[in-house]
Amino acid sequence: MHDEPMTEFEPAEFASEDARAEEALSALPQTGDREVETTLRPRKLGEFVGQPRVREQLELVLESARMRGVPPDHVLLSGPPGLGKTSLAMIIAAELDAAIRITSGPALERAGDLAAMLSNLVEGDVLFIDEIHRIARPAEEMLYLAMEDFRVDVVVGKGPGATSIPLEIAPFTLVGATTRSGALTGPLRDRFGFTGQMEFYTAEELELVVRRAASLLGIRIEDEGAVEIARRSRGTPRIANRLLRRVRDYAQVRADGVATRTVVRAALEVYDVDELGLDRLDRAVLTALVRSFGGGPVGVSTLAVAVGEETTTVEEVCEPYLVRAGMLARTPRGRVATVSAWEHLGLTPPAGGVADLGRAEQLGPSLFD
Ligand SMILES: Nc1ncnc2c1ncn2[C@@H]1O[C@H](COP(=O)(O)OP(=O)(O)OP(=O)(O)O)[C@@H](O)[C@H]1O
Ligand SMILES: [Mg+2]
Repeated sequence: MHDEPMTEFEPAEFASEDARAEEALSALPQTGDREVETTLRPRKLGEFVGQPRVREQLELVLESARMRGVPPDHVLLSGPPGLGKTSLAMIIAAELDAAIRITSGPALERAGDLAAMLSNLVEGDVLFIDEIHRIARPAEEMLYLAMEDFRVDVVVGKGPGATSIPLEIAPFTLVGATTRSGALTGPLRDRFGFTGQMEFYTAEELELVVRRAASLLGIRIEDEGAVEIARRSRGTPRIANRLLRRVRDYAQVRADGVATRTVVRAALEVYDVDELGLDRLDRAVLTALVRSFGGGPVGVSTLAVAVGEETTTVEEVCEPYLVRAGMLARTPRGRVATVSAWEHLGLTPPAGGVADLGRAEQLGPSLFD
């Protein structure tokens, strides 16, 4: 089976970011998402659907800081794209009645960039650093001191004449967001007083997200239509909101404007979104795994090459959901397709059972059981 030529998919289809950008199901923000997302962002903790655990923990952190009259501990929000990390960061500032300054890891290339941001902070401000795992090393080291002692050492001059001038900064709260908490260095991770681990949303929670967005955007949707969108949104509010907009388009052009169950199903068929919310890339990954590698185990980079994608895209965009949906397992020896994956592709799993699942590192519960 391992030697079988790969015939069932066309790597070129997924080769570029642009091709991916057309995908209705990407959890990464796409053209057109940004404006709508601003409209749809929940403003207060009470409006934020789902994530009950993180919400409760955060409520306690914020409330106790409010009672003590001090800025709360630094907060790290970690989880896959589109689950609401940026939204929560803004909510934290809103709940504290504080101003929020926004930057990102890649923007903080030089320590001086960070020093400028830090020295402009006013007491109680929230500093939001998105993609904090991508911060450059010198800026990261400056951040250690800033987080711990509200102080930075600014180096003036070069060579033997260089001096370092300590600079006080106003007590602030750092909110960091990351899709890869594993890529954070230990010292940085340790300086956060609280880490909120965002989880994929249940279908019921996404249904609420869809209904809320529909009412904000003035889209008429029946309950059964909302259920159908929620089911296919890969546990991700950003995707739910995007599918809702595609359904609205279809409903306007090809129906009478109301998103009924039938309209939703027909619309999502047009956009290549299957019953479980898998898109073409997910199906290509599973197909490659099953057809070309006999269901695995196979290394993720080999799998990525087989579908013509970056390893990180397969790892960060496809896999978390495939694992969550119970289709793929990560084992010490590589990726393995589960029985559900074979069945979803309409294939019969091998008679000897699927390889090595007993040692699967993690097999998330299915969203749909
Ligand atoms: N809990 C929620 N309730 C309602 N809408 C939500 C919720 N979480 C996210 N959304 C919607 O999903 C969109 C994307 O969320 P957000 O930008 O906060 O995700 P993110 O985790 O920061 O993603 P990324 O990792 O790509 O930065 C928001 O604009 C909002 O419309
Ligand atoms: Mg974000």
